[in-house]
Amino acid sequence: MSFTIGSAGVGLGPGRLLEGFGEEGTGGSVDRQVIVRLLGLVRPYRGRMVAAMALMALASLLSLIAPYLTKVAVDQHIAQGDPVGLLRTALLIAAAFGGLYLASAGQQYLLSWVGQRVLYTLRGRLFRHLQALSLGYHDNHIVGVTLSRVINDVSVINDLLSQGLVTLVGDVLVLVGIVAAMLAMSPKLALLTFAVLPLMVLATHLFARRAQVAFRQTRTRVAAVVGDLAEDLAGMRVIQAFAQESTSAEHFDEVNRANRDAHVSAMSLSFVFLPAVEFLGMLATAIVLWFGGLSVARDELTLGVVVAFLAYVNRFFQPIQELSQLYTTLQAASAGGERVLALLDTVPEVMDRPDAAETPPFEGRIELQDVSFAYRATEGGLPVLRKVNLVIEPGQTVALVGQTGAGKSTIANLVARFYEVTEGAVLIDDRDVRTVTQASLRQQMGIVPQDPFLFAGSLADNIRFGRPNASDEEVEAVARAAHAHDFIVQMPDGYATPVLEGGVNLSVGQRQLVCIARVVLNDPRIIILDEATASVDTVTEAMIQQALRQLMEGRTALVIAHRLTTVQDADLICVIDGGQIVERGRHEELLAREGIYRELYEHQFVVRDRVD
Ligand SMILES: Nc1ncnc2c1ncn2[C@@H]1O[C@H](COP(=O)(O)OP(=O)(O)OP(=O)(O)O)[C@@H](O)[C@H]1O
Ligand SMILES: [Mg+2]
Repeated sequence: MSFTIGSAGVGLGPGRLLEGFGEEGTGGSVDRQVIVRLLGLVRPYRGRMVAAMALMALASLLSLIAPYLTKVAVDQHIAQGDPVGLLRTALLIAAAFGGLYLASAGQQYLLSWVGQRVLYTLRGRLFRHLQALSLGYHDNHIVGVTLSRVINDVSVINDLLSQGLVTLVGDVLVLVGIVAAMLAMSPKLALLTFAVLPLMVLATHLFARRAQVAFRQTRTRVAAVVGDLAEDLAGMRVIQAFAQESTSAEHFDEVNRANRDAHVSAMSLSFVFLPAVEFLGMLATAIVLWFGGLSVARDELTLGVVVAFLAYVNRFFQPIQELSQLYTTLQAASAGGERVLALLDTVPEVMDRPDAAETPPFEGRIELQDVSFAYRATEGGLPVLRKVNLVIEPGQTVALVGQTGAGKSTIANLVARFYEVTEGAVLIDDRDVRTVTQASLRQQMGIVPQDPFLFAGSLADNIRFGRPNASDEEVEAVARAAHAHDFIVQMPDGYATPVLEGGVNLSVGQRQLVCIARVVLNDPRIIILDEATASVDTVTEAMIQQALRQLMEGRTALVIAHRLTTVQDADLICVIDGGQIVERGRHEELLAREGIYRELYEHQFVVRDRVD
């Protein structure tokens, strides 16, 4: 007996995880080309970005004025007993802070406005691109990693583009302004204060190099956690069925712990670095107090200068801290950006040609000419199909049978052009499927997949998936035709009954009936039906049979059958073995031939008799 959930392809193998995460580790420190391309994302908003930078510059300048005004107040108004002048200066300081408040509020508003739009655009582009990528791409990429790309990587890019750029402008201005102001007021005291700078540079250098490694690790680890979580959630049934909760929890613990440790070590770097910067700030303050105080005593400097210096020194180290963190942001954005751009640059294997035509309404003739196929054609994958030739005339029903892994679903995939043939050609109405648009091809095809997938939503919504504006009457009519109506009206809310994610609250047979209804609604000329392997009860089986017979009437049908009862009326039965059609004919002919078909047939009925 086949166990369907086992076929969900849920492997806990570390190999798969590593394959996906290998990419995460790549990316040197900062790739200029990547950054330049990322900057392109804010181009449409350059007016607002410039405005934000101007406001940031204004805020920086205003914040530099206060210490200078304090100096004026101390030296001129306080020292000379000038209350009116003091009041005026105090008001000026208040006005400067008022302006500072307005400028930074405006700048932050602009930044989040731009930032959210960049996020929105980038996520939208990624989503559309992921939809355009062929199944071949999705086969080879872990869902969780892709998720982490669309959510996490995109947001680090945004951190750089919005906050980062503007902070850079502000911080550089503040630093330059402070240095200039200090030099202007007292070159000697300024140079003495700058004596701590070499230490600062050394500390920043040591920090930045370690931080680069540490922060990159945190990002890889987060992706590992998301990847593992997504896979375990998808495979929960398998995990529970095999009672492997503890193994899986251990595995999760491992990635979770690695994530924790990476964050702790990245954080502790910051915890060592940031206080070190503060310490150097205090050192600079002490220098100013000591040498400044002595100079005041010797009448070389005014008290106001020392007070202003103290305020500037106090402001000096914050931009340095910010700039060193900005470097980390830059690296994160570069690494994240590289991955996001690589995804956006991935060319879909299956693409409409520039001159691809819309197919006119199908007659419904399908032809496979010398079709050979390997899932990974470029990497020397094993051929799954070898020189397959098959013609299905309009209105005919052709059944594919054969052992598991023989290549039946693969043929269906090629007819719908989910993959590109490696050799040969697939023709519909004598047109190569590669010369027409994918959309026009698939709109005229009804595909009932082997693993019937339903979306979260109501049953009715699932049936009208291909034609969202279909009326309730139409939905009911196709449900009746698909023999789904009876079970649907028995559900608590009838057609409004919610389907849970993946359709888990329906049986596999019921899901397949809903999928059949969904296909009937589109009234396609060509039907591709990949029978679910799960054994359904005999009543449901009979219902599916009837639904199919109705569905296939007057249409071309390619049916992949696991229950040989399905195929007895087919116009042609092809037995697939080892990637080739090894026998073909009608049911009776094939039975008479005493070949593989007869073996399959007898085997099935013997097994079934025993099971029943
Ligand atoms: N997405 C894929 N990537 C790589 N190899 C694949 C992929 N899908 C199928 N294969 C391989 O192709 C071969 C044929 O698979 P296919 O799904 O066509 O078999 P099938 O005849 O439909 O089997 P079943 O009766 O179990 O549905 C198998 O050996 C399988 O390992
Ligand atoms: Mg199959």
